[in-house]
Amino acid sequence: MKNTYSLLLLSGLLLFGFSCSKNDPPPADPCAGVTVTVTGSTMNPAAGAANGSINASASGASGFTYSINNGTFQGSGQFTNLSAGTYTIIAKSSAGCTGSANFTLTNVVTCNGVTISVNPTINGVTPCVTPSANGSISVAASGGTAPYTYSLNGGTFQSVTSFANLNAGTYSIAARDANGCSATQGSIVVGTRSSGPLFNAVKTLVQTNCVSCHNSSSASGGVNLSTDCSIVSAKERIRARAVDGNPSPMPTGGLLPANERQKITDWINAGGRVTD
Ligand code: HEC
Repeated sequence: MKNTYSLLLLSGLLLFGFSCSKNDPPPADPCAGVTVTVTGSTMNPAAGAANGSINASASGASGFTYSINNGTFQGSGQFTNLSAGTYTIIAKSSAGCTGSANFTLTNVVTCNGVTISVNPTINGVTPCVTPSANGSISVAASGGTAPYTYSLNGGTFQSVTSFANLNAGTYSIAARDANGCSATQGSIVVGTRSSGPLFNAVKTLVQTNCVSCHNSSSASGGVNLSTDCSIVSAKERIRARAVDGNPSPMPTGGLLPANERQKITDWINAGGRVTD
């Protein structure tokens, strides 16, 4: 009985000793010595489009699934609808061994087939105001890839869509899109705005009733009313003399009829410009 007990104890110690031996090898790493290599081909997206693709494949193990930018793993290494950028493809074998590679897609910049329209809107010069160079052109290009920049007469490209302080004349504007594709429209004519009906009525009145005494060779009281701009610049004096009779009426023989005087008042109230 005592011997049997000793034998059991000894066997137990032996078993215990075997099962806990510190010299046991660690559990085998299924990826030890396995190198997963990812290769692939790319197709770049068109300018500004998300139609690029990566076709990746892996070697060094088997049963691969693939992930792009740490997304969900999928059975195929084909990724489509990609825009320009750098992507990381991870391949994982059925045993869980991984490898990765980066792929960079760049836009295919080609201006073939890109037709940019400049589309200018012209504001002509208003005569007889300061500054005299007060015309402008605003532009809104289309047909390319926004944002656009614009150049006047070959000058620096700017993102502002209008050119101001222009004299009457002929201009060209180039529009350049985000991919560097550009188009130029020449023969953009900034004209002088035509005179308005209220001014025309006053001008006729002045020519009929005033210019005989107020012209370049005989500028009574120092006032020449023979040009459009001289009428504009003297408008307050014209109103004082010909509407209010202050300090004495003009023409010298007496005030014009009320409906004629009203033409002066209406024009000045509308702004007193050539274009009113
Ligand atoms: C027959 C000649 C004659 C006609 C026509 C005439 N003027 Fe005069 N005007 C004068 C003379 C002379 C003076 C200078 C004496 C004075 O100021 O009263 C003068 C002065 C002026 C002045 C400058 C003085 C000021 O007050 O600023 C204005 C402006 C003027 N006239 C406006 C007119 C207008 C507008 C008409 C037409 C609706 C007109 N005149 C028609 C002879 C004329």
